[in-house]
Amino acid sequence: MAFIDPKLVPKRKLSNGQEIPCMGMGTFGSDRFTPEQVSGAVAGAIRIGYRLFDCASVYGNEDLIGEVFEAAIREGVVKREELFITSKVWNDMHGQGDVLLSCAKTLKDLRLDYLDFYFVHWPFPNYHAPGCDGDSRNPDSKPFSTEEFMSTWRQMERLYDMGLVRNLGMSSMTIPKLEAVLPLCRIKPTVIEMELHPCFQQPELYDYVVAHGIQPIGFCPIGSPTRPDRDMTPDDIADIRVPELVEIAKAHGVHPAVICLKWAVQRGQVPIPFSIHENEYVSNLESTVKDPLSEEEMAVLKGVDKNCRLIKGQVFLWPGATSWHDLWDEDGVIVK
Ligand SMILES: NC(=O)c1ccc[n+]([C@@H]2O[C@H](COP(=O)([O-])OP(=O)(O)OC[C@H]3O[C@@H](n4cnc5c(N)ncnc54)[C@H](OP(=O)(O)O)[C@@H]3O)[C@@H](O)[C@H]2O)c1
Repeated sequence: MAFIDPKLVPKRKLSNGQEIPCMGMGTFGSDRFTPEQVSGAVAGAIRIGYRLFDCASVYGNEDLIGEVFEAAIREGVVKREELFITSKVWNDMHGQGDVLLSCAKTLKDLRLDYLDFYFVHWPFPNYHAPGCDGDSRNPDSKPFSTEEFMSTWRQMERLYDMGLVRNLGMSSMTIPKLEAVLPLCRIKPTVIEMELHPCFQQPELYDYVVAHGIQPIGFCPIGSPTRPDRDMTPDDIADIRVPELVEIAKAHGVHPAVICLKWAVQRGQVPIPFSIHENEYVSNLESTVKDPLSEEEMAVLKGVDKNCRLIKGQVFLWPGATSWHDLWDEDGVIVK
């Protein structure tokens, strides 16, 4: 069986001095893969050397993944302190007291007594039913509110104070939203999850996050070819079919997916690729320890950015909002 020594996998240092692996594994089954398939992949991934796992309550599989963590620790495959485990509070649990309840449920499901990272999954309390289609809207949805976000964040800070969560994170934020909330945070986020792949590099947000001492974690690092149907539109560009990327992949003798990941790691974000296939998740982690891209190849890949957002979030739109662009504050002000 393949084994990539976790000690050899490069690390990223967070603002609090903690070091984390430069790549993790995603666990969102994208409404296509069953909880059993995802937890099976997590079990395999621990054995081959993954140490960081990106979980979330809304992925609907934390209970099975928890069994995997518990067994791996019990059987001595890995020690708890060697693992970096993420979870996220879902949009329907932002209310007073709910964040604490959600975290407690996640800890119980994951069979842990602390989380390494806890994220606010989306900066809106807007709920959509799991597995809904792209035209679904919830009439109770609301635009972003700094006040509401901060009341959620205060609960995150309490979890940190209680030692239940070692790092706080935000996800799918924009610069205007960060400008509004960062000065108000008593406990600052050490990590931010954002969509990052060669065709969607978000250079301004990326630079802003890094300049604030926050580590970017990149989701959909391969361009999420198996994302839910509701997140597919005809204009989307498939990263793994971009000619420049395909050519670099041929030169390295690897799948284009692996080039997306090498680019991500060498740029500095922590990608969290998903796969249930052992050959894929092995080559993904292996990409961090061998055959780096040249400076020229990195420059070519920088040039393939097409500002192609895949996770548009339209199911979170509130009554009165005009299009998914409203979620992303593209004119530099928070859209209300
Ligand atoms: N914070 C957030 O709001 C947020 C949003 C989205 C995602 N995420 C997190 O980010 C993780 C990753 O995103 P994602 O799952 O959407 O997309 P992704 O990692 O970009 O793409 C996953 C797909 O890529 C293919 N793949 C993976 N490795 C490959 C390889 N070596 N060769 C060929 N194909 C490969 C697999 O498809 P096949 O099965 O067809 O091979 C897999 O299903 C999620 O699982 C989740 O944990 C977070």
